[in-house]
Order: sequence, then C-alpha cells, then structure tokens
Amino acid sequence: MIEMSNVTKKYVNGVQALTNVNLKIEKGEFAFLVGPSGAGKSTFFKLLLKEEEPTSGKIYLDNQDITKVSRRKVPYLRRNLGVIFQDFRLLPNKTVFENVAFAMEIVEASSKEIRRQVPMMLGMVGLSERANQYPHQLSGGEKQRVSIARAIVNNPSILIADEPTGNLDPETAWEIMKVLRQINRRGTTILMVTHAKDIVDVMQQRVIALEKGRIIRDEAKGAYGYED
Ligand SMILES: Nc1ncnc2c1ncn2[C@@H]1O[C@H](COP(=O)(O)OP(=O)(O)O)[C@@H](O)[C@H]1O
Ligand SMILES: [Mg+2]
Repeated sequence: MIEMSNVTKKYVNGVQALTNVNLKIEKGEFAFLVGPSGAGKSTFFKLLLKEEEPTSGKIYLDNQDITKVSRRKVPYLRRNLGVIFQDFRLLPNKTVFENVAFAMEIVEASSKEIRRQVPMMLGMVGLSERANQYPHQLSGGEKQRVSIARAIVNNPSILIADEPTGNLDPETAWEIMKVLRQINRRGTTILMVTHAKDIVDVMQQRVIALEKGRIIRDEAKGAYGYED
C-alpha cells in the first residue's frame, strides 16, 4: 500500500516539484504514473525511496509513515520496496547471481537464505542459465530481468519502476511487462512510470497522470492520454 497525504515538495532552488498530492494505491494494484517531462514523476519516486524528504505532508508504505523513519533504518524500508530503473544499474564487476545476492547481503540475509532464494528468483525471470555471467555479456532485456530479480529477491510488498522499458525494443519491452504482470499476480503492488503509450493502452490498468506537480487524472483501466 502506498499513500501520500497532502504531499508538497519544494526543492532548495525554489522549484515546487509536487503540490498537495493525495493518492492511495492499494495492496495488489498495478498502476501507471504518466505525465510530461518535469511533471514530478521522479520526485515522487525519490520521496518513496527517502532519497528526498517532502516539504510537507505524510507518506505511508504499508501503513508506516516513512517520513518518521530514521536514515539508519532506510535499508530495512528498502527491503519492502523493490526498485527498477530504466538504465538497470547493475554492478558491472559482479555476476548475475552476485548482483541479485547483493540485495540480500545489504539486509544481512544468511548465506543459506541467499543460496536458496537467488536461484528461485533467477528461475522466475528466466535467467537460470545466466547466473555466472557478467552484465556486459547480457542483452538489454536480460539486464532488466536481472534488475527485476534483484528488486524482488527480498519479497517486497511494493515494486516501483521508473521507465523500465525505456531502453528496450518493443518486443523485449513486452517480455518485461509479462514478468511484471506475473509478479503483480503474486500479490506485489506495482507502480510504474512510463512513456510507452502502447503498453499503457493495452494493459488496461489504473493510470495516474501528473502535470506540473499535481495529479490531473486518475482512472481505473485508463489510457495513456498523450500523443508522444
Ligand atoms: N534535485 C533537484 N533540485 C531542484 N529541482 C529539481 C530537482 N530534481 C528535480 N527538480 C525539478 O523538479 C521538477 C520535477 O522534476 P522530476 O521530478 O524529475 O520530473 P519528471 O520525472 O516527471 O520529469 C522539474 O522542474 C525539475 O527541474
Ligand atoms: Mg523523471
């Protein structure tokens, strides 16, 4: 569950990136966040990740007010919040297995748990055969699968994705969407920022549109609604 209550974010340079945002995404939902460049989408994610703090308002993840969580405890928040980026952000000197395992090491999982859990996740994203390869040996779609495996390895209740198909060709993008849909069906809440009109229009999920820091549209089974 993701909830923002009256959230405003003003950066130190005076730019107000979000204004009075009120939003609730229930457990198990799949929602798209759309809107033009500069609308505040990445700021929204940075607030969920506690990379930035809101100027005012409250933010809840699974009923916990994260604005009250200390910096020291942020890694444990992350355990419950998987993240995927457009540019994958894999560690180049670690193998596929090690990249996924690293997310578990950060939250001090035992090596026994890691040996059990990582192969399961790699199987789920269809990369069992690639466990010992390095990121530079993988295609874009495979890299994104690794980043998905890493994002869900700690069984987060929420997965947020910032343009996860932005660097992929249409066919590979759809394969990634299938994996995300499968993760969502297992109960994980997914919030995905995207500019992929075709994907949003076909998926028929909730669409939340941000413009100039405000939510201007929020529809169940919505469409992308822009022409780009
Ligand atoms: N760290 C920052 N400092 C100052 N202004 C920022 C910062 N990050 C983003 N902004 C501004 O906040 C607004 C929203 O940006 P952003 O959240 O990145 O939008 P989007 O992801 O929708 O393109 C823009 O005007 C942007 O220039
Ligand atoms: Mg952005």
